[in-house]
Amino acid sequence: MNNKKTKTNKIWGERMKSNPSNLLTKINASIHFDKKLYAQDIKASIVHSKMLAKQKIIKNNVSNRIIKGLKKIEKEIQQKKFKFSEFDEDIHLNIEKRLFQIIGDDAGFLHIARSRNDQVTTDFKLWVIDASKKLNIEIKNLIKAITKLAEKNYKTIMPGFTHLKNAQPILFSHYMLAYAEMFKRDYKKFQNVINNSSDNPLGSVALAGTSFNIDRNYTSKLLGFSKPTDNSIDGVSDRDYALEFLFVSSLCSMHLSRLAEEIILWNSDIVNMIIVKDNMLTGSSIMPQKKNPDGAELIRGKTGSVYGCLNSLLVTMKGLPLSYFKDMQEDKEPVFKSYEILILNLKIAKELIESLKLNKKIMKKFANDGYTTATDFADYLVKKGLSFRVAHKKSAKLVNIAENKNIPLDQLNFEDIKKIDPLIEKDVIKILKVENSVDLKNSYGGTSLKNVVKMIKKMKKEFK
Ligand code: ARG
Repeated sequence: MNNKKTKTNKIWGERMKSNPSNLLTKINASIHFDKKLYAQDIKASIVHSKMLAKQKIIKNNVSNRIIKGLKKIEKEIQQKKFKFSEFDEDIHLNIEKRLFQIIGDDAGFLHIARSRNDQVTTDFKLWVIDASKKLNIEIKNLIKAITKLAEKNYKTIMPGFTHLKNAQPILFSHYMLAYAEMFKRDYKKFQNVINNSSDNPLGSVALAGTSFNIDRNYTSKLLGFSKPTDNSIDGVSDRDYALEFLFVSSLCSMHLSRLAEEIILWNSDIVNMIIVKDNMLTGSSIMPQKKNPDGAELIRGKTGSVYGCLNSLLVTMKGLPLSYFKDMQEDKEPVFKSYEILILNLKIAKELIESLKLNKKIMKKFANDGYTTATDFADYLVKKGLSFRVAHKKSAKLVNIAENKNIPLDQLNFEDIKKIDPLIEKDVIKILKVENSVDLKNSYGGTSLKNVVKMIKKMKKEFK
């Protein structure tokens, strides 16, 4: 680069006595990541050019030449024939430079009533909308896989935990559907990201709007937005859509991470409630016996990076007055990165779910360990007329007896149980069985078989 030139070959070269230094060129360039926006950039430029012609701001034949050139550039990029240059900073200037090479000086009419400030945020918003749609396809696939696993094992009983201590017997299918609910909320939230991104920033121009008679409703319609942004300063300064995307991605990653953690725990040799198929496991370079759930561990591990992306953009934005600053160029990498992580995590999670087999015997045994029907016994006494607090104490006594005898509650004999309270009758034996405990949880959203079958149906209807 010649730093002694009086004019430079930058678009703004007329104003500069020298080219930017090599280091400035390096720090300024975003082309190595924002080339991902090429399709959105070309689409928005075509729409802008059409609008300029419709409004008679540029001639029809100029607009047509611009559009033809832009389509050629799109093909070149798709066919990997396009030479991206760091000197031209970003995707917008790279495309504009090439347009000059292809159609000559007419290319200079494209940037009327437009700035890179409204251009970049329009492209980025379109990208975020598209990414949210793609993620929702994978979320839906995961929900379907989870529901299928729940349906296949709908009667299997396992212990439900609080504090990781056995709490009450539940259906495995109910447990799985709890995860389906989380992903259903993520699905709705990504839909909200799309709905909240419906205002078109194109036409905000640098920050103040323009004196040209542009038609922002027209560009909004052609780009799939519902209306133009109402304030041009906000139009170029807003990155809420990217932050919301990162927040929902973080939330969804957190749900995936919790699911991964369950799988790791249940697959451990000390718990051994599930078997993961070999296609989801890796071996050890030293311990020949090992089969490790690396896939699940990486879902959990990569979640930290997604949170980092959210935090990174929140911090980037927090000190910026209105309107545009180059700091905002740093908005893209965290969004691209978290998207790549999340889409992979969602796909792997689906494969993992499909690879699971249950150790039903162990699950059932664990469901009975830890006196999990003690609450059912207390409820039984309440139904005989006692208050819950009195019943709670009496049930604790029963647990102490079983503990002293070193047997589960359902192995106690009737004579011992009867000593707890004279109201107790023979039907109490049934109450202490885990199957019965599950069946009785018939309140809306509870773990009874009847409820869960209904919820499986509901989930299948919502996510076909
Ligand atoms: N590459 C820039 C970005 O991503 C485009 C906007 C540049 N605007 C400017 N005024 N320098 O933010």
